[in-house]
Amino acid sequence: MKTAAQIIVLDAGGQYCHLIARKVRDLGVYSEVRASETPAAELAGVKGLIISGGPNSVYDPASPTVDPAIFQSGARVLGICYGQQLMAHLLGGTVQLGVEGEYGLATFDLDGGSSALFDGISGPQQIWMSHRDLVAAAPPGFTVLGSTATCSIAAIEAPARGLYAVQFHPEVAHTTRGREILSNFLFGICGCRRDWVPRHRVPQIEDEIRRCVGDRNVFFFVSGGVDSTVACALCQRAIGAERVKGVYVDTGLMREGETDSMRSIPGLSVESAEAQFLDALVDVRDPERKRHIIGEEFVRVQERIVESRHLLDGHWILGQGTIYPDTIESGGTEKAAVIKTHHNRVPGIQRLIDAGRIVEPLRSYYKDEVREIGRELGLPAEILDRHPFPGPGLAIRCLCSEIDAGVEATADGYILPVHSVGVQGDSRSYAPVLCIDALDHARAPELINRISGVNRVIACVRSAAPLADLRVRVSALTPERLERLRHADAIVRRLSHVSGFDRQIWQFPVVLIPLGTDDAPDSVVLRPIDSVDGMTAQSVTMPDDLLDSISTELLSVPGVSGVFYDLTHKPPATIEWE
Ligand code: XMP
Repeated sequence: MKTAAQIIVLDAGGQYCHLIARKVRDLGVYSEVRASETPAAELAGVKGLIISGGPNSVYDPASPTVDPAIFQSGARVLGICYGQQLMAHLLGGTVQLGVEGEYGLATFDLDGGSSALFDGISGPQQIWMSHRDLVAAAPPGFTVLGSTATCSIAAIEAPARGLYAVQFHPEVAHTTRGREILSNFLFGICGCRRDWVPRHRVPQIEDEIRRCVGDRNVFFFVSGGVDSTVACALCQRAIGAERVKGVYVDTGLMREGETDSMRSIPGLSVESAEAQFLDALVDVRDPERKRHIIGEEFVRVQERIVESRHLLDGHWILGQGTIYPDTIESGGTEKAAVIKTHHNRVPGIQRLIDAGRIVEPLRSYYKDEVREIGRELGLPAEILDRHPFPGPGLAIRCLCSEIDAGVEATADGYILPVHSVGVQGDSRSYAPVLCIDALDHARAPELINRISGVNRVIACVRSAAPLADLRVRVSALTPERLERLRHADAIVRRLSHVSGFDRQIWQFPVVLIPLGTDDAPDSVVLRPIDSVDGMTAQSVTMPDDLLDSISTELLSVPGVSGVFYDLTHKPPATIEWE
C-alpha cells in the first residue's frame, strides 16, 4: 500500500528541490516532489506544501509558477528562496530584480517577535543564501521576521493564513538551524505525524514486488552499484533467489577487483564482453563518440542476453534499480541530458517497459534511504557505501589526444592542450584546462570567468619534470593506459578509504590525462567532490597528509609523471572530465 504524502515539495526548478524532500523524510514525514504548476485540486488533503527555490525571476513569463489557489487551500505553505519571491509576487508584494545576487554564507538576524517557524531559535543565525532577485516589499498582511546585511526581507509570514517564506535555504547543512526550521514547519505548523522510517518498509516493498511479479521470474542487469544491488536483493527475498537472475556485463572498463567481487554474489552471472568493448573503442578519442559507442555495445550485449536466455518470453519481467530522483523530470535532469549522453534504454528492454513488464521496487526512495534498506537486508557496507560510478566506466576517465602539443605559459598558469567537458548555462563546453601552481579553490571561479576558452582549473601537486617540459602526446584508449588508470584508481581508493576521507565526500573520480614526459607519458588528476545528487558539485580539499601519501604512491606507478588536483566546481566543469 502506498503511503500518502503529507508534504508535497513543488519543484520550481531548484537544484535543492530533492534535497528539501529528502530532509523532510529524514525528519520522519513522507514527502513527494511534484511540478510547481500542479493544480490545487490535485493537492487536496496534503498537510503542507513547500515551494522550492529555482534559478528564474518571477517577472520572466516563462518562469515556473504555482496555482494561486494553493494559498487558500487549507494546506500550510512554506516558500523557500524563489518560493518566497513567488509567494510575495502572487500575493501583492514586490520583487526586486537583482543584478549581482548573494551566494554563500550570511548572517540572519531574527526580529524580536515570536514565530512558530523559528520556535526555539533566537539571535543571529548562520544561513546559506543563493539568490539574485529579492523581495522588496512583503505582501499586504505579512510580517517580516528577519533580515541579513544585504536582504532586508529574509523571512515573512502570515500565520493566520498558514503562509510562511524564507529567502535562505533551510534544507542545506550550511544553514545551522535549518533542520529545526523545517521541523517547526512540519510538526508545529502543519501538524504532521511521523510516518516514515525506510527500513520499516521492507515488508511492504516485498508485498508490492510479489503483487507486481505474480508467478513470473525477474531478471536484472546489475551494475555493481548500490541501487541495482539492493533492488535485486529485495526481489530475491520477496520471491526466492531461484526466481531472480542478475547479469553483470564486464565491459573491461571496470575498476580493479570489481568483476571478481561480482562473481562472488549468488544468483549473479558475469557476461564477459571486454574484447567487444575495447575493439569498438580503438582509436576513438572524442568523448561523445566514446559514450555513443559504449552505449551501442551495451545495446548489443543486452539484446544478445535477452534473446539467448529467452528473457522476452512471458515468464520473465525486468527488474530495475530506478530510484526516486530518476523518475522525475526536473529542469536539472533535462539539462544533464544535453551535456552528456547517458545510455539507458535498449529496444528489447523498452518493449518490456512499454508492456508494463517491469518491477522497480525502489522508485519511491532516495539514495540514502536505499542504503538504509540495504543495511536492513544485511548487505555489506562495501556495497552500500559505494560512490557512484558512471556506466561508461574508466573509458570516460582515460583521456586521449589526437595531437602532440606542449603546454602554453600564461601570466595565470599553464594552459594544457587537454580538453574536458563543462556546463555553461544550458549547454556543454569542451575546452582546455588551466593549470595553476597553488591548491587555491577560491581562485578557480574568477580565472574561468576571466580567461575565455578555459572551463576547468587544476593545480599541480607533484611532477617528475618541470611543468613547462610536459607535453601532450597522441594517445588512445589502449589496454596499457586503462591498466595504468585502474592501478592509479585503486591506490586512491585504498588510501582514501583507510583515512576515512571517502566517507566524507560524494565521489572521487581519478582521471588519466595524456600529459607527461617521454618516459612517463601520462598524469593523474584527482577529482574529489561533494554533491547532493550529482547535478551540482563542489570540489573539496583533502587533508595534506593524505594528498602527500596518494601523490607519492601515484608517482611510483610506471608511466605516470605528474599528479594534479581539480579545483573546479560544477558548474562550470562537470564532475567527470568527459
Ligand atoms: P557529470 O560528469 O555529468 O556527472 O557532472 C554527474 C554524475 O553522473 C555520473 N555519470 C554517469 N552515470 N552513466 C552513468 O550511469 C553515465 O554515462 C554517466 N556520466 C556521468 C557521474 O559519475 C556523476 O556522478
